[in-house]
Amino acid sequence: MRPFLKTKIAVLSELMGARDLAVSGEALGLSLGLTRQAVWKAVKALKEDGYVIESIPRKGYRLVSTPENDLDPSLIETFLLDCPWGHPVLYWESLDSTQVPAKELARKGASEGLIVTTSYQTSGRGRLGRRWVSAPEGGVFFSLVTRPALPPASIQWLSLVSAMSVQDALSTLHGVKCQLKWPNDILWKDRKLCGILTEVSSEPGLVHFAVIGIGINANSSNISLGEGAETISLSSITGKKAHRGELIAGVVRYLHDAVRGLEAPGGIKRALADYTSRCDTLGRKVRVVSDEGEVIGEAIALGEKGEIIVRTKEGICSFTSADVNHLRALG
Ligand code: BTN
Repeated sequence: MRPFLKTKIAVLSELMGARDLAVSGEALGLSLGLTRQAVWKAVKALKEDGYVIESIPRKGYRLVSTPENDLDPSLIETFLLDCPWGHPVLYWESLDSTQVPAKELARKGASEGLIVTTSYQTSGRGRLGRRWVSAPEGGVFFSLVTRPALPPASIQWLSLVSAMSVQDALSTLHGVKCQLKWPNDILWKDRKLCGILTEVSSEPGLVHFAVIGIGINANSSNISLGEGAETISLSSITGKKAHRGELIAGVVRYLHDAVRGLEAPGGIKRALADYTSRCDTLGRKVRVVSDEGEVIGEAIALGEKGEIIVRTKEGICSFTSADVNHLRALG
């Protein structure tokens, strides 16, 4: 993190931690190892970003309110203060797709954990060359730069652990229990709530970077997210408006630990067991559409590369990249 930004985030974190109470410039300086002048500069910068901070004589600074924009990058960085990822967070009011600047920055050497987010995408992208409808109504759209120490053959696991991370964050922050549809759709009662697009730059034997793009239908009305999918929004499930910055930070926190877990010895085996136990596609009758055509069968297992294994009348098939439709449950 750039030094001044780090100071700003640290001051914001202390003010948020104090809740409604004032904290003196001296106390802030002492706990953060800063001069009072440095604290004052950070407070000034935060006010310019839209934070309302009261200066109370002889008491100090009190955070009255955070900016109306719940995607404020300083706020997201503050939520991720103790996480190695999410520094920096870059925000644009609108973008064609968050994947575009994220990939460009990754190509130029951006460090792992950089997040690009926006309120509105004009050309959101989905898997398999599809469009991702990104209405400016409160959706979550972000892309994360990762540099995983994984062989290209295992890269599918990034998408799969991303889906589990979204599932975990939705459960922890909102108490919403979702289903996972292979490979990386998050459903609620069979309706799509989130989609994930992972784009990788690699050469034989080496992954340079992977950009994980996540779209969550947070506060939008139940608009169509992608072609043909029945959709649902988080706010219509909970009846409450979700804080988008908090949700991004929650997902990134889980995702950081999941990716580090994948890289550790035995990591893929553990992820395989975890995903297998959570995946709603397994045991279902499915229609799989891939480059080779369409098959119908029962999804019976996942392989070591994250591929889905389907038993059809003709025999066993496996797919690494395909579109899966859940048909009625077997049995
Ligand atoms: C899918 O289900 O087809 C994947 C959708 C991925 C959408 C996200 S929104 C943030 C990022 N930017 C994009 O243009 N796409 C991904």
